[in-house]
Amino acid sequence: MPSSPKPGPAPQPQPLPQSVVEEPTYADAPAERGQAPRLGQDELVEIGKQRLLGNYRPAPVVFVRGEGCVLVDARGDRYLDFAAGVAVNALGHAHPKLVRTIADQAARLMHVSNYFYNEENVLLAKELCEKTGFDRAFFCNSGGEANEAMFKLARRHFYAKGQKDKYRFIAFENSFHGRTLATVSLTGNPSYKEGFGPKLEGITHVPYGDLEAVRAAMGPDVCGIFVEPVQGEGGVMPAPPGFLPGLRKLADEHGALLLLDEIQTGMGRTGKLLGLEHEGVRADVITLAKGLAGGFPIGAMLLREELAGGLPPGTHGSTFGGNPLACAASRTVLAALYDDGLIEGAAKKGAYLGQKLAELAKRHPDMCEGERGQGLLRGILLKQGVDPRLALGRVREKGVLLTIAGNRVLRFTPPLIVTEREIDEAVRRVDDALSALRLESISAG
Ligand SMILES: Cc1ncc(COP(=O)(O)O)c(C=O)c1O
Repeated sequence: MPSSPKPGPAPQPQPLPQSVVEEPTYADAPAERGQAPRLGQDELVEIGKQRLLGNYRPAPVVFVRGEGCVLVDARGDRYLDFAAGVAVNALGHAHPKLVRTIADQAARLMHVSNYFYNEENVLLAKELCEKTGFDRAFFCNSGGEANEAMFKLARRHFYAKGQKDKYRFIAFENSFHGRTLATVSLTGNPSYKEGFGPKLEGITHVPYGDLEAVRAAMGPDVCGIFVEPVQGEGGVMPAPPGFLPGLRKLADEHGALLLLDEIQTGMGRTGKLLGLEHEGVRADVITLAKGLAGGFPIGAMLLREELAGGLPPGTHGSTFGGNPLACAASRTVLAALYDDGLIEGAAKKGAYLGQKLAELAKRHPDMCEGERGQGLLRGILLKQGVDPRLALGRVREKGVLLTIAGNRVLRFTPPLIVTEREIDEAVRRVDDALSALRLESISAG
């Protein structure tokens, strides 16, 4: 009879073969890249025009480095970056804490699959849940991917409960949720959908801010209301007061989920960690991306515990999602938001920027209708007839980078580390650009 194994010390792992433990050498690594750009700006633009897909309309500027709120192009010209990669570079460019984290983490561990845990995604999930009050996190690589996950979770949550017919979404006109086929179908702007075939079934669009329209569109088949706290791409349009709480109530009345797309508004951008905090709304699921890792690609979905069963093993995933490099970068951004007072800073500096933009709009009543936004997500509404692309180009020529949102909003989303002095300087230059534009249009007759 075989004797039963005796309790003893745990078995030691086998030593690794020498070929695996040998110190790697990097003697053959390519020389350090690009202190100075190797090609001139015009040449690079030409290559870009020929070799990149052509699905964007980039300005003829090639950026080669940045520091804080300043970007430097291949000619050495400096710009105040009030675009921040469209609300992405929360800590500005080359922030020492973020640079150090990414370098250290890349040297330690860059990627492991989701067949295993990794220290950084576990800790980021814990920290995000503690800061936001959600219970679980799913990580991916972009905003579109995070919204795709939120879409799938909402439908599959009800499917798993046996409510297979509860799959319709309420979404909003003028909204933007991404470029994947599901998120472009949710997006309330027909121009993004044209030519891509039949849109996904089961999405009803209603006017943003119109609770009566939502009430009329609700029904027992609605699984979720998909909404941005501020419509960013749609033209920097904050939800009217009472709208989000009203949606919460309607969702509860119909047993539906409130799904908040915080991709542009989250991570301190509006002066609170999340946009929903302004009205104390409780969401069932939210998505984050953009500023989440300050420029390193990452997306996240945060959810309540009861919903986690909607996506059990095998139903959803992402190869790169939750990789240690992105999660380490995000942990550093999250820590900096609190340690460096960036969230209250966004509220205070956002109010200052808002006041400066309102004054600017008053100085140019023939071109501007006013200012709107929340925190450091703000815009100037141009008058009908003012070409926003022309205005954007003139502002850039004065050394300030902005973006266009909707049909006629010049959008300001500076890094959260921006100073009041930088705000003054940017507004002064935009003022000059608008004056130059007026003179141009006068002399053009
Ligand atoms: C509110 C909102 N949702 C989703 C997205 C899509 O994010 P991504 O471009 O990272 O896929 C964006 C991007 O602008 C956004 O502003």
